Amino acid sequence: MKKKMLLIILPLLVVICGVLGFAFMQSSSTEAANQGGLMDKKVLVAYFSWGGNTKFIAEKIHSQVGGDIFRIEPVTPYPSDYNETAYGVAKEQKDKGIHPPINNTDVSPYDVIFVGTPAWWYTMAPPVMTFLAENNFEGKTIVPFITHGGGGGYTIDKDMAKLAKGAKVLKPIVIYSRGDSNTDNDIQEWLKKLSF
Ligand SMILES: Cc1cc2nc3c(=O)[nH]c(=O)nc-3n(C[C@H](O)[C@H](O)[C@H](O)COP(=O)(O)O)c2cc1C
Repeated sequence: MKKKMLLIILPLLVVICGVLGFAFMQSSSTEAANQGGLMDKKVLVAYFSWGGNTKFIAEKIHSQVGGDIFRIEPVTPYPSDYNETAYGVAKEQKDKGIHPPINNTDVSPYDVIFVGTPAWWYTMAPPVMTFLAENNFEGKTIVPFITHGGGGGYTIDKDMAKLAKGAKVLKPIVIYSRGDSNTDNDIQEWLKKLSF
């Protein structure tokens, strides 16, 4: 008799645990996606990346916030050689204030645009300047994310605000290189504190 009862109760317990576990996962993923009211917004994650670090972080952010993702590319690619890019083309663009032509995208359908850039010569990379200067960000929210080689985020968020006229620019996340084992958690905590 006891054995029979166990045969009925055990599978029942397994089903109940499964249902509860699924419900918990659903509610926590909804909570993550709804950080600061983001769930009601149309989201774009746009980024430039020369060496792959910012792309790596962009994909992590995108996996947490959803929406669309767009890689900003200069029409004329940078050389694959570091010195040629860093001390040649990029330095010249920075010094002369050049905004190089890029593949562009229309940001008008989006409410919140995450904008990712590596730190290049103490500010954002020139293709990101083009992206911000050539689109209309009036009434939109920009959320910067920055990767760097040791210098930090500088005043990149403020530099972005100057180019993207009429946008509200939120607090950036600043990540050394491509982050570490805490980065997913850091991104989650950063998102939770933002008010979109
Ligand atoms: C042209 C150039 C300029 C850079 N300038 C800076 C800088 O001013 N400060 C800094 O901390 N890192 C600087 N770095 C390092 C990059 O910010 C860092 O490696 C970044 O994570 C690269 O991102 P990516 O792999 O997406 O291109 C520079 C790198 C390049 C290629």
